[in-house]
Amino acid sequence: QAGAMVAPSLLAADRMHFGRELESVADADYLHVDVMDGHFVPPIAFGAIDVRSVAAASQVPLDVHLMVDNPDECIDQYLDTEARIVTFHWEAATHAHRLVEKTHQAGKLSGVALNPATPPEALRELLRWVDLVLVMTVDPGYGGQGIVEGSRDKVARTSRLCRELGVSPIIEVDGGVKTDNAGTLAAAGASLLVAGSAVFGREDRAAAIHELRLAAQE
Ligand code: DX5
Ligand code: ZN
Repeated sequence: QAGAMVAPSLLAADRMHFGRELESVADADYLHVDVMDGHFVPPIAFGAIDVRSVAAASQVPLDVHLMVDNPDECIDQYLDTEARIVTFHWEAATHAHRLVEKTHQAGKLSGVALNPATPPEALRELLRWVDLVLVMTVDPGYGGQGIVEGSRDKVARTSRLCRELGVSPIIEVDGGVKTDNAGTLAAAGASLLVAGSAVFGREDRAAAIHELRLAAQE
């Protein structure tokens, strides 16, 4: 009976009908915006300008996922948007604690993301400061991939580490999340589910979001 929030990933939305796509997910808990720089991940997608356009067009709070090589250098332009959450990758950060501080100074929730190959233990220090941990359940860069084996266990180990440290950040999962694995991920401790193809691949987006929330309660 864990329950979880749902954040549709706009990477999977139809760019040619973007306004309509945003309306179709108006009852989501967050909108997940994937920033890709063509270096940390091969594709290029969404920048601060796009984050601003989405913020102006939707009431849903924005969850910005920075898949960029140099978050230390480029986070400021995202802190200068309406985003509610700004998440950088642990693997790409040089001064992670400073990034968290800056994000808080900008009045936002600070998240740190882990690639599938990075163990949760890497966050032993940082977990005391962040508001959110994003456990990537696929290798970042593309929508529509299958969930990496062992993801449930990694989420469980992340929650265990949080409990051990006496902290309770939001645990977010991103990649390959569907109704058939949402329940296990939520039971393992995930409280925010990102879903690209599982929402935008469906005709009825409200139903897709509702079904993911329901699945997370099982
Ligand atoms: C992948 C992105 C995800 C992606 C998820 O690098 O971070 O947010 O859009 O897409 P699905 O849910 O289709 O795996
Ligand atoms: Zn993402």
